[in-house]
Amino acid sequence: MKTFLIKNLALLLLLSGFFTSCNQQVSKSEGNSMKNPVEEAFVEATPTQDTTLEIYRRQGKEIVKATFSALNSQLKSAMKQGGVPYALRFCNVTAIPITDSLSARYDVDIKRVSMQNRNPDNAPDALEESMIASLQKMMVASYEGVNMVVLDQDENPVYVQPIVLGDQCLQCHGKLGDDILAANYETIQSLYPNDKATGYRSGDLRGIWRIRFNSTNLN
Ligand code: HEC
Repeated sequence: MKTFLIKNLALLLLLSGFFTSCNQQVSKSEGNSMKNPVEEAFVEATPTQDTTLEIYRRQGKEIVKATFSALNSQLKSAMKQGGVPYALRFCNVTAIPITDSLSARYDVDIKRVSMQNRNPDNAPDALEESMIASLQKMMVASYEGVNMVVLDQDENPVYVQPIVLGDQCLQCHGKLGDDILAANYETIQSLYPNDKATGYRSGDLRGIWRIRFNSTNLN
């Protein structure tokens, strides 16, 4: 009886050692996955219910939400601080650095692109242009909830989500004279001599969010 107990105790200790080391491994990999949202989603995903495509879709959506809210909160506080002229200058220097810093944080490449771009750095490449064209042809009552995941020529998954213009955007992207004050248009022209991003109406497709994942993210 005594040997039986000792044997079991030894087994228990052995097993508890095994579980502790397992736990350590798990928490180590959790620490890494915090930096990589795709891996994090993979850990959460139940293989039978969630496909790779759905993981990219879910991550893409979340990254767009976070980036939009970062840009929007900065834009709002700049408008409060110095109105449209100040906000224009503020966006000129901060919009791309904000998206770039979130790209680094999520380990993806985040871009806002538009055919009618203000900043020529936001012009679409061939794939992005074809995505915009597909969205324009889509017969939907609203772009709410519409998104796509495609592979680029390097087999990188790309998440695409439409950017729709709202009333709060018109002061800088609406019609000259009607929505955009002449003085503000002068500021736009001085910052962006080749600006194409005016003349929009509320509800128009303004462009797309494009989140490019590394093909290695899920390997
Ligand atoms: C205060 C003026 C202002 C407001 C308001 C504003 N924008 Fe912009 N927007 C800009 C400027 C300036 C840029 C160029 C930023 C840069 O240099 O990257 C820009 C760029 C963009 C781009 C990137 C493509 C491009 O044309 O370069 C998109 C998309 C965009 N805006 C959408 C919106 C939407 C949607 C809203 C409303 C939610 C909005 N903007 C409100 C000033 C504004």
